Amino acid sequence: MSSRDRDWDGARLHVVTGKGGTGKTTVAAALALALAAEGGRVLLVEVEGRQGIAPLFGVPPLSYEERRVAAAGRGEVRALSVDAEEALVEYLDLFHGLRRAAGALRRFGAVDFVTAIAPGARDVLLTGKVSEAVRRRSRPGGPHVYDAVVLDAPPTGRIARFLDVTAAVSGLARVGTVRDHADQVREVVHSAETVVHFVTLLEEMPVQECLDGIAELRALGLNVGGVLVNKVRPALLEDSVLTAAAGGVVDVDALARGLQAAGLPEPDGLARRLSGEVVEHARHVRMEREARERLAAAARPCYDVALLEEGVDLAGLHRLAESLRAQGAV
Ligand SMILES: Nc1ncnc2c1ncn2[C@@H]1O[C@H](COP(=O)(O)OP(=O)(O)OP(=O)(O)O)[C@@H](O)[C@H]1O
Ligand SMILES: [Mg+2]
Repeated sequence: MSSRDRDWDGARLHVVTGKGGTGKTTVAAALALALAAEGGRVLLVEVEGRQGIAPLFGVPPLSYEERRVAAAGRGEVRALSVDAEEALVEYLDLFHGLRRAAGALRRFGAVDFVTAIAPGARDVLLTGKVSEAVRRRSRPGGPHVYDAVVLDAPPTGRIARFLDVTAAVSGLARVGTVRDHADQVREVVHSAETVVHFVTLLEEMPVQECLDGIAELRALGLNVGGVLVNKVRPALLEDSVLTAAAGGVVDVDALARGLQAAGLPEPDGLARRLSGEVVEHARHVRMEREARERLAAAARPCYDVALLEEGVDLAGLHRLAESLRAQGAV
Protein backbone atom coordinates (compact mmCIF):
# COMPACT_ATOMS: atom_id res chain seq x y z
CA MET A 1 0.00 0.00 0.00
CA SER A 2 1.20 3.54 -0.68
CA SER A 3 2.04 6.11 1.94
CA ARG A 4 -0.86 8.36 0.88
CA ASP A 5 -2.30 10.11 3.90
CA ARG A 6 -5.77 8.68 4.33
CA ASP A 7 -8.29 9.74 6.92
CA TRP A 8 -8.93 6.22 8.15
CA ASP A 9 -5.40 4.86 8.22
CA GLY A 10 -5.15 2.12 10.79
CA ALA A 11 -8.80 1.12 10.54
CA ARG A 12 -9.44 -2.47 9.49
CA LEU A 13 -13.13 -2.87 10.37
CA HIS A 14 -15.36 -0.27 8.70
CA VAL A 15 -18.93 -0.41 10.02
CA VAL A 16 -21.39 1.42 7.76
CA THR A 17 -24.67 2.56 9.31
CA GLY A 18 -27.28 5.27 8.63
CA LYS A 19 -31.02 5.73 8.54
CA GLY A 20 -32.88 3.04 6.61
CA GLY A 21 -32.82 3.57 2.86
CA THR A 22 -30.13 6.27 2.82
CA GLY A 23 -27.64 4.11 0.92
CA LYS A 24 -25.76 2.00 3.48
CA THR A 25 -25.44 -1.02 1.19
CA THR A 26 -24.45 1.06 -1.84
CA VAL A 27 -21.87 3.10 0.09
CA ALA A 28 -20.47 0.01 1.86
CA ALA A 29 -19.91 -1.61 -1.55
CA ALA A 30 -18.19 1.52 -2.93
CA LEU A 31 -16.04 1.74 0.20
CA ALA A 32 -14.97 -1.90 -0.17
CA LEU A 33 -13.89 -1.24 -3.78
CA ALA A 34 -12.02 1.89 -2.69
CA LEU A 35 -10.18 0.02 0.06
CA ALA A 36 -9.20 -2.80 -2.31
CA ALA A 37 -7.96 -0.49 -5.06
CA GLU A 38 -4.36 -0.41 -3.92
CA GLY A 39 -3.92 -4.12 -3.86
CA GLY A 40 -5.72 -5.10 -0.71
CA ARG A 41 -8.06 -7.97 -0.05
CA VAL A 42 -11.31 -6.71 1.39
CA LEU A 43 -14.28 -8.59 2.80
CA LEU A 44 -17.74 -7.02 2.44
CA VAL A 45 -20.24 -8.46 4.91
CA GLU A 46 -24.00 -8.25 5.21
CA VAL A 47 -25.78 -9.44 8.32
CA GLU A 48 -29.47 -9.05 7.75
CA GLY A 49 -30.04 -11.68 5.09
CA ARG A 50 -31.34 -9.02 2.72
CA GLN A 51 -29.18 -10.05 -0.25
CA GLY A 52 -28.60 -6.41 -1.09
CA ILE A 53 -24.95 -6.89 -2.06
CA ALA A 54 -25.18 -9.66 -4.67
CA PRO A 55 -27.24 -7.69 -7.22
CA LEU A 56 -24.85 -4.74 -6.99
CA PHE A 57 -22.01 -6.95 -8.19
CA GLY A 58 -24.15 -9.02 -10.53
CA VAL A 59 -23.44 -12.28 -8.71
CA PRO A 60 -25.74 -15.04 -7.39
CA PRO A 61 -27.09 -14.64 -3.82
CA LEU A 62 -24.35 -14.65 -1.18
CA SER A 63 -23.96 -17.53 1.22
CA TYR A 64 -22.01 -18.20 4.40
CA GLU A 65 -19.00 -18.86 2.21
CA GLU A 66 -16.68 -15.97 1.38
CA ARG A 67 -16.67 -15.46 -2.36
CA ARG A 68 -14.87 -13.08 -4.70
CA VAL A 69 -17.36 -10.60 -6.13
CA ALA A 70 -15.15 -7.99 -7.80
CA ALA A 71 -11.66 -7.02 -8.79
CA ALA A 72 -10.59 -3.49 -7.91
CA GLY A 73 -7.29 -2.25 -9.22
CA ARG A 74 -4.75 -4.78 -8.02
CA GLY A 75 -7.00 -5.87 -5.17
CA GLU A 76 -10.19 -7.78 -4.78
CA VAL A 77 -13.45 -7.70 -2.87
CA ARG A 78 -14.94 -10.83 -1.37
CA ALA A 79 -18.38 -10.92 0.12
CA LEU A 80 -20.28 -12.91 2.71
CA SER A 81 -23.79 -13.01 4.10
CA VAL A 82 -23.61 -13.92 7.79
CA ASP A 83 -26.47 -15.90 9.18
CA ALA A 84 -26.85 -16.31 12.96
CA GLU A 85 -27.61 -20.02 12.73
CA GLU A 86 -24.57 -20.79 10.59
CA ALA A 87 -22.47 -18.65 12.94
CA LEU A 88 -23.69 -20.65 15.96
CA VAL A 89 -22.92 -23.97 14.28
CA GLU A 90 -19.45 -22.73 13.35
CA TYR A 91 -18.87 -21.40 16.86
CA LEU A 92 -19.85 -24.68 18.53
CA ASP A 93 -17.69 -26.59 16.10
CA LEU A 94 -14.60 -24.38 16.38
CA PHE A 95 -14.65 -23.78 20.10
CA HIS A 96 -16.27 -26.91 21.43
CA GLY A 97 -15.84 -29.53 18.72
CA LEU A 98 -19.57 -29.95 18.66
CA ARG A 99 -20.32 -30.02 14.95
CA ARG A 100 -22.68 -33.01 15.14
CA ALA A 101 -24.48 -31.64 18.14
CA ALA A 102 -24.67 -28.33 16.34
CA GLY A 103 -26.31 -30.01 13.38
CA ALA A 104 -28.93 -31.47 15.69
CA LEU A 105 -29.49 -28.09 17.32
CA ARG A 106 -30.07 -26.61 13.92
CA ARG A 107 -32.73 -29.21 13.12
CA PHE A 108 -34.53 -28.38 16.35
CA GLY A 109 -34.41 -24.66 15.65
CA ALA A 110 -32.06 -24.09 18.56
CA VAL A 111 -30.91 -20.72 17.32
CA ASP A 112 -34.40 -19.37 17.63
CA PHE A 113 -34.51 -20.90 21.08
CA VAL A 114 -31.21 -19.36 22.18
CA THR A 115 -32.00 -15.97 20.74
CA ALA A 116 -35.49 -15.99 22.23
CA ILE A 117 -33.95 -16.37 25.69
CA ALA A 118 -31.30 -13.72 25.05
CA PRO A 119 -32.26 -11.45 22.17
CA GLY A 120 -28.76 -9.97 22.07
CA ALA A 121 -27.25 -13.42 21.47
CA ARG A 122 -28.13 -13.24 17.79
CA ASP A 123 -26.21 -9.99 17.43
CA VAL A 124 -23.16 -11.42 19.20
CA LEU A 125 -23.16 -14.38 16.83
CA LEU A 126 -23.13 -11.93 13.90
CA THR A 127 -20.53 -9.53 15.31
CA GLY A 128 -18.55 -12.59 16.44
CA LYS A 129 -18.24 -13.82 12.87
CA VAL A 130 -17.23 -10.34 11.69
CA SER A 131 -14.58 -10.10 14.43
CA GLU A 132 -13.26 -13.50 13.47
CA ALA A 133 -12.76 -12.32 9.87
CA VAL A 134 -11.00 -9.17 11.11
CA ARG A 135 -8.60 -11.16 13.29
CA ARG A 136 -8.04 -14.10 10.95
CA ARG A 137 -4.44 -14.75 9.91
CA SER A 138 -3.14 -16.97 7.16
CA ARG A 139 -1.02 -18.77 9.79
CA PRO A 140 -0.25 -18.08 13.44
CA GLY A 141 1.80 -14.88 13.57
CA GLY A 142 1.37 -14.41 9.80
CA PRO A 143 -0.31 -11.55 7.98
CA HIS A 144 -4.04 -10.90 8.24
CA VAL A 145 -6.12 -12.64 5.62
CA TYR A 146 -8.12 -9.43 5.06
CA ASP A 147 -6.60 -5.97 4.85
CA ALA A 148 -10.03 -4.57 5.66
CA VAL A 149 -13.55 -5.73 6.46
CA VAL A 150 -16.56 -3.55 5.56
CA LEU A 151 -19.80 -4.26 7.36
CA ASP A 152 -23.13 -3.27 5.79
CA ALA A 153 -24.58 -2.80 9.26
CA PRO A 154 -28.09 -2.42 10.72
CA PRO A 155 -29.63 1.06 10.58
CA THR A 156 -28.90 3.85 13.06
CA GLY A 157 -31.89 2.96 15.21
CA ARG A 158 -30.37 -0.41 16.05
CA ILE A 159 -26.62 0.10 15.63
CA ALA A 160 -25.75 0.89 19.26
CA ARG A 161 -27.44 -2.22 20.59
CA PHE A 162 -25.97 -4.27 17.75
CA LEU A 163 -22.42 -3.26 18.63
CA ASP A 164 -22.85 -3.22 22.40
CA VAL A 165 -21.62 -6.73 23.08
CA THR A 166 -21.47 -6.16 26.82
CA ALA A 167 -25.16 -5.51 27.18
CA ALA A 168 -26.01 -8.32 24.81
CA VAL A 169 -24.43 -11.07 26.88
CA SER A 170 -24.89 -9.69 30.35
CA GLY A 171 -26.93 -12.17 32.29
CA LEU A 172 -26.35 -14.78 29.61
CA ALA A 173 -22.87 -15.85 30.56
CA ARG A 174 -20.65 -14.53 33.32
CA VAL A 175 -18.07 -17.26 33.06
CA GLY A 176 -16.60 -19.67 30.59
CA THR A 177 -16.07 -19.77 26.88
CA VAL A 178 -19.11 -17.73 25.87
CA ARG A 179 -17.80 -14.96 28.08
CA ASP A 180 -14.30 -15.26 26.60
CA HIS A 181 -15.76 -15.17 23.12
CA ALA A 182 -17.80 -12.06 23.94
CA ASP A 183 -14.70 -10.41 25.40
CA GLN A 184 -12.81 -11.00 22.16
CA VAL A 185 -15.63 -9.53 20.10
CA ARG A 186 -15.80 -6.52 22.41
CA GLU A 187 -12.05 -6.04 22.07
CA VAL A 188 -12.26 -5.88 18.27
CA VAL A 189 -15.30 -3.58 18.25
CA HIS A 190 -13.72 -1.14 20.71
CA SER A 191 -10.21 -1.22 19.28
CA ALA A 192 -8.65 1.58 17.22
CA GLU A 193 -9.01 -0.77 14.25
CA THR A 194 -12.79 -0.31 14.20
CA VAL A 195 -14.55 2.81 12.93
CA VAL A 196 -18.26 3.40 12.42
CA HIS A 197 -19.24 5.52 9.41
CA PHE A 198 -22.61 7.21 8.95
CA VAL A 199 -24.41 7.49 5.64
CA THR A 200 -26.91 10.32 5.36
CA LEU A 201 -28.92 12.29 2.87
CA LEU A 202 -29.12 16.06 3.14
CA GLU A 203 -32.61 15.85 4.61
CA GLU A 204 -33.88 16.64 8.05
CA MET A 205 -34.66 13.16 9.41
CA PRO A 206 -31.55 11.31 8.17
CA VAL A 207 -29.34 14.15 9.45
CA GLN A 208 -31.04 14.06 12.84
CA GLU A 209 -30.63 10.27 13.06
CA CYS A 210 -27.01 10.64 12.04
CA LEU A 211 -26.28 13.19 14.77
CA ASP A 212 -28.16 11.16 17.40
CA GLY A 213 -26.39 7.97 16.32
CA ILE A 214 -22.96 9.59 16.51
CA ALA A 215 -23.69 10.84 20.04
CA GLU A 216 -24.95 7.43 21.10
CA LEU A 217 -21.92 5.56 19.79
CA ARG A 218 -19.54 8.09 21.31
CA ALA A 219 -21.21 7.53 24.67
CA LEU A 220 -20.43 3.83 24.28
CA GLY A 221 -16.79 4.68 23.61
CA LEU A 222 -16.87 3.54 19.98
CA ASN A 223 -14.85 5.26 17.24
CA VAL A 224 -16.91 7.33 14.86
CA GLY A 225 -15.32 7.53 11.39
CA GLY A 226 -16.74 9.79 8.71
CA VAL A 227 -20.07 11.09 7.52
CA LEU A 228 -20.84 9.99 3.97
CA VAL A 229 -23.29 12.37 2.36
CA ASN A 230 -25.10 10.35 -0.29
CA LYS A 231 -26.94 11.30 -3.47
CA VAL A 232 -25.16 14.62 -3.85
CA ARG A 233 -26.04 16.53 -7.04
CA PRO A 234 -23.67 18.96 -8.74
CA ALA A 235 -24.44 22.63 -8.17
CA LEU A 236 -26.33 23.96 -11.19
CA LEU A 237 -26.50 27.67 -10.45
CA GLU A 238 -24.17 30.32 -9.14
CA ASP A 239 -24.49 31.37 -5.53
CA SER A 240 -25.80 34.86 -6.28
CA VAL A 241 -28.54 33.42 -8.52
CA LEU A 242 -29.41 30.80 -5.90
CA THR A 243 -29.67 33.31 -3.10
CA ALA A 244 -31.97 35.58 -5.10
CA ALA A 245 -34.11 32.67 -6.32
CA ALA A 246 -34.49 31.24 -2.82
CA GLY A 247 -35.97 34.64 -1.93
CA GLY A 248 -38.38 34.30 -4.87
CA VAL A 249 -36.46 36.55 -7.26
CA VAL A 250 -35.58 35.19 -10.71
CA ASP A 251 -34.20 37.26 -13.56
CA VAL A 252 -36.73 36.02 -16.14
CA ASP A 253 -35.24 38.12 -18.96
CA ALA A 254 -31.76 36.67 -18.42
CA LEU A 255 -33.27 33.19 -18.30
CA ALA A 256 -35.14 33.85 -21.59
CA ARG A 257 -31.92 35.07 -23.25
CA GLY A 258 -30.18 31.90 -22.14
CA LEU A 259 -32.96 29.72 -23.53
CA GLN A 260 -32.90 31.64 -26.78
CA ALA A 261 -29.12 31.22 -27.06
CA ALA A 262 -29.68 27.49 -26.57
CA GLY A 263 -32.01 27.57 -29.56
CA LEU A 264 -35.24 26.81 -27.72
CA PRO A 265 -38.54 28.01 -29.19
CA GLU A 266 -40.75 30.56 -27.37
CA PRO A 267 -38.03 31.47 -24.84
CA ASP A 268 -40.13 34.10 -23.04
CA GLY A 269 -43.05 31.85 -22.19
CA LEU A 270 -40.72 29.00 -21.29
CA ALA A 271 -38.66 31.28 -19.01
CA ARG A 272 -41.78 32.36 -17.10
CA ARG A 273 -42.86 28.75 -16.60
CA LEU A 274 -39.34 27.64 -15.61
CA SER A 275 -38.83 30.42 -13.08
CA GLY A 276 -41.07 28.64 -10.57
CA GLU A 277 -38.86 25.57 -10.82
CA VAL A 278 -35.76 27.68 -10.34
CA VAL A 279 -37.20 29.01 -7.07
CA GLU A 280 -38.06 25.50 -5.94
CA HIS A 281 -34.58 24.24 -6.83
CA ALA A 282 -32.94 27.14 -4.99
CA ARG A 283 -34.98 26.48 -1.86
CA HIS A 284 -34.03 22.83 -2.01
CA VAL A 285 -30.35 23.73 -2.30
CA ARG A 286 -30.71 26.09 0.66
CA MET A 287 -32.26 23.29 2.72
CA GLU A 288 -29.38 21.00 1.77
CA ARG A 289 -26.86 23.62 2.83
CA GLU A 290 -28.58 24.00 6.17
CA ALA A 291 -28.41 20.22 6.58
CA ARG A 292 -24.67 20.33 5.90
CA GLU A 293 -24.24 23.06 8.49
CA ARG A 294 -26.06 20.93 11.06
CA LEU A 295 -23.78 17.99 10.23
CA ALA A 296 -20.78 20.13 11.07
CA ALA A 297 -21.84 19.83 14.72
CA ALA A 298 -20.70 16.20 14.64
CA ALA A 299 -17.15 17.42 14.02
CA ARG A 300 -16.41 14.48 11.76
CA PRO A 301 -14.98 14.59 8.23
CA CYS A 302 -17.69 14.59 5.56
CA TYR A 303 -17.37 12.98 2.13
CA ASP A 304 -19.67 13.40 -0.84
CA VAL A 305 -21.12 10.40 -2.63
CA ALA A 306 -22.58 11.50 -5.96
CA LEU A 307 -26.08 10.70 -7.07
CA LEU A 308 -25.82 8.18 -9.91
CA GLU A 309 -28.48 9.49 -12.25
CA GLU A 310 -28.77 6.25 -14.21
CA GLY A 311 -29.11 4.14 -11.05
CA VAL A 312 -26.48 2.08 -9.28
CA ASP A 313 -24.44 -0.35 -11.35
CA LEU A 314 -20.93 -1.75 -11.02
CA ALA A 315 -19.37 0.97 -13.19
CA GLY A 316 -21.10 3.57 -11.00
CA LEU A 317 -19.80 1.91 -7.83
CA HIS A 318 -16.26 2.08 -9.20
CA ARG A 319 -16.76 5.81 -9.87
CA LEU A 320 -17.98 6.35 -6.30
CA ALA A 321 -14.98 4.39 -5.00
CA GLU A 322 -12.57 6.50 -7.04
CA SER A 323 -14.20 9.66 -5.70
CA LEU A 324 -13.87 8.46 -2.08
CA ARG A 325 -10.18 7.91 -2.71
CA ALA A 326 -9.82 11.33 -4.35
CA GLN A 327 -11.41 12.89 -1.25
CA GLY A 328 -8.81 11.19 0.91
CA ALA A 329 -11.20 8.90 2.75
CA VAL A 330 -9.21 5.76 1.98
N1 LIG B 1 -25.43 7.39 -4.89
C1 LIG B 1 -26.57 6.87 -5.35
N2 LIG B 1 -27.04 7.20 -6.58
C2 LIG B 1 -28.19 6.69 -7.04
N3 LIG B 1 -28.96 5.84 -6.36
C3 LIG B 1 -28.57 5.47 -5.13
C4 LIG B 1 -27.35 5.95 -4.57
N4 LIG B 1 -27.22 5.40 -3.33
C5 LIG B 1 -28.28 4.60 -3.15
N5 LIG B 1 -29.10 4.64 -4.22
C6 LIG B 1 -30.38 3.93 -4.36
O1 LIG B 1 -31.17 4.22 -3.23
C7 LIG B 1 -31.84 3.07 -2.76
C8 LIG B 1 -31.42 2.76 -1.31
O2 LIG B 1 -30.02 2.44 -1.32
P1 LIG B 1 -29.45 1.25 -0.41
O3 LIG B 1 -30.18 -0.01 -0.66
O4 LIG B 1 -27.98 1.24 -0.60
O5 LIG B 1 -29.84 1.85 1.01
P2 LIG B 1 -29.80 1.12 2.44
O6 LIG B 1 -29.53 2.19 3.43
O7 LIG B 1 -28.86 -0.03 2.39
O8 LIG B 1 -31.31 0.61 2.57
P3 LIG B 1 -31.87 -0.40 3.70
O9 LIG B 1 -32.02 0.40 4.94
O10 LIG B 1 -33.17 -0.83 3.10
O11 LIG B 1 -30.86 -1.52 3.82
C9 LIG B 1 -31.50 1.96 -3.73
O12 LIG B 1 -32.49 1.91 -4.72
C10 LIG B 1 -30.19 2.42 -4.34
O13 LIG B 1 -30.00 1.92 -5.64
MG1 LIG C 1 -29.16 -2.05 2.81
